[in-house]
Amino acid sequence: MTRALRLAGWLLLALCVHLPLHAADGARAPAQAPPGAAVASAHALATDAGLEILREGGNAFDAAIAVSATLAVVEPISSGLGGGGFFLLHDAASGRDIFVDARETAPAAATPERYLTVDGEFDRDRAENGPWAAGIPGLPAAFVHLAERYGKLPLRRSLAPAIRAATDGFPAYARMTRGYERRRSVMERYPGTREVFLAGGRPLREGDLFRQPDLTRTLERLAREGFDGFYRGETARLLLAGVRAEGGEWTAQELAGYRVVEREPIRLQYRDWEIVTAPPPSSGGVAIAQMLQILEPYDLKAMAPAARAHLTIEAMRRAFRDRTFYLGDPDFVEVPVRTLTSRDYAAGLRATIHPQKATPSELLSGEPTPLEDEETTHFSIIDAAGNRVAGTQTVNLLYGSGLIPPGTGVLLNNEMDDFALRPGTPNAFGVMGYEANAPKPGKRMLSSMTPSFMVAPDRIAVLGTPGGSRIITMVLLGMLGYDDGLDAQAVSALPRFHHQWMPDVVSAERGMFDAGTAQALRAMGHTLDLPPDEAEDGRGSSHVWGNLQTVFWNRADGTLEAGSDPRNPVGKGAVELRATR
Ligand code: GLY
Repeated sequence: MTRALRLAGWLLLALCVHLPLHAADGARAPAQAPPGAAVASAHALATDAGLEILREGGNAFDAAIAVSATLAVVEPISSGLGGGGFFLLHDAASGRDIFVDARETAPAAATPERYLTVDGEFDRDRAENGPWAAGIPGLPAAFVHLAERYGKLPLRRSLAPAIRAATDGFPAYARMTRGYERRRSVMERYPGTREVFLAGGRPLREGDLFRQPDLTRTLERLAREGFDGFYRGETARLLLAGVRAEGGEWTAQELAGYRVVEREPIRLQYRDWEIVTAPPPSSGGVAIAQMLQILEPYDLKAMAPAARAHLTIEAMRRAFRDRTFYLGDPDFVEVPVRTLTSRDYAAGLRATIHPQKATPSELLSGEPTPLEDEETTHFSIIDAAGNRVAGTQTVNLLYGSGLIPPGTGVLLNNEMDDFALRPGTPNAFGVMGYEANAPKPGKRMLSSMTPSFMVAPDRIAVLGTPGGSRIITMVLLGMLGYDDGLDAQAVSALPRFHHQWMPDVVSAERGMFDAGTAQALRAMGHTLDLPPDEAEDGRGSSHVWGNLQTVFWNRADGTLEAGSDPRNPVGKGAVELRATR
């Protein structure tokens, strides 16, 4: 098919996510294929990259490469070639769901002792900043894997929009410049990072054109040479030199030996939805399975807000306790997935919930959880054939480790902090772990990223979000929102609350709980952390978190929707309908 014909096959009907688009009036039987395609991501350039590749004849998997790689360029604050990610795929032709694990792996030198100061204290600086914070990146290997196994277009075509964004640049936006201010004391330690972020002789200001010529060259080598274009040859040489120059100890074998792993997703039934979600080394799917199955027998829709919130918090508390002790990389530790995700286990947990009283989490030392509103990123895609991708990718904290090995343009992750580097010591998200998540050479650090599908007989949703440990509870609330009958935009906008067992506190966004609900929850024994103007003593913290991106296909009425989190002004959900004759 010629390009012109392909283009003519698409009718650009709307880029607005608020209006559901109707394929055909009066349709009754669930449609076999969507009326078009939908893409939602955290940056308009990335969403447009996905649409461009779909119009070029690519499928959802080619579009996923384009969106993911463009996010890696335009959202260095959140993800990048120096990081990793998870991609949940649905292949419409075979009906298969596949989980592509492109999580970073631990370098052999990164043993727990290397994260201790001379006084034997936990060295938080090492865990979060510079070369020791970084795992071996996985995202570039994911692009090669997706293109070779599932795509229709050559990798170089799907990477073209990202290469263009790196070369031509894009205007720096507020989240980027704010994040830089927060991380600049670390980022400016490293010459390679200064070259990129101080290229104009001063820190970026909102609206400045941000160009990344070294990243262009790195992407071009990847596009030309595939896996070897990143993990061997010139890029590998530059990465190793840059890591070693800062005192890190990566080896050429570790880079060349990196492999993406395909895993079976977690599946469960929740009411009339089949939930397909992320398995270990994500902790998200197991926790979602536990929480939904704890909640399933309750009539949440009919409940008063405080009763509903109480039960949901108690489900969160129990799932996060198990995360702490049992979850890790299944290639290294035995994770009791079958038990943790079973209905009987959920019933046992449910039996321990008092309907009117908070269960105090055991009192262990916990640290306040810092806000994580701008790290990690998620995109959701459905194409006109019904293929789907939920992709969540990350460099961990804002701008990852802050280190760009000179000449690469690749900002390295600080994912090592997602390991339990010191047993029982909370990481940057306030979550702890023990042996199951201890670092080992080549092991993947536990993640909270939870790209997910919800499949009912006549409705399909694709969703996910960034947000550190809060990812899991945001995905849960999004799923409950879809089950309540909300549309995609309403699901992405839902106010959020979170509990993670330790610290034993419920944090909530502004407007989540009205005064009566907050009072009722306190009376049940919950400790609430609310925005100052909603807190009882005026001393709370203002939480805004997440960046939920979702697409939704209603097969019964032929509508397709995209929801992009309104908390993020540069995000974009887009629906394009096929031409109808
Ligand atoms: N780095 C955040 C996560 O993977 O959970």
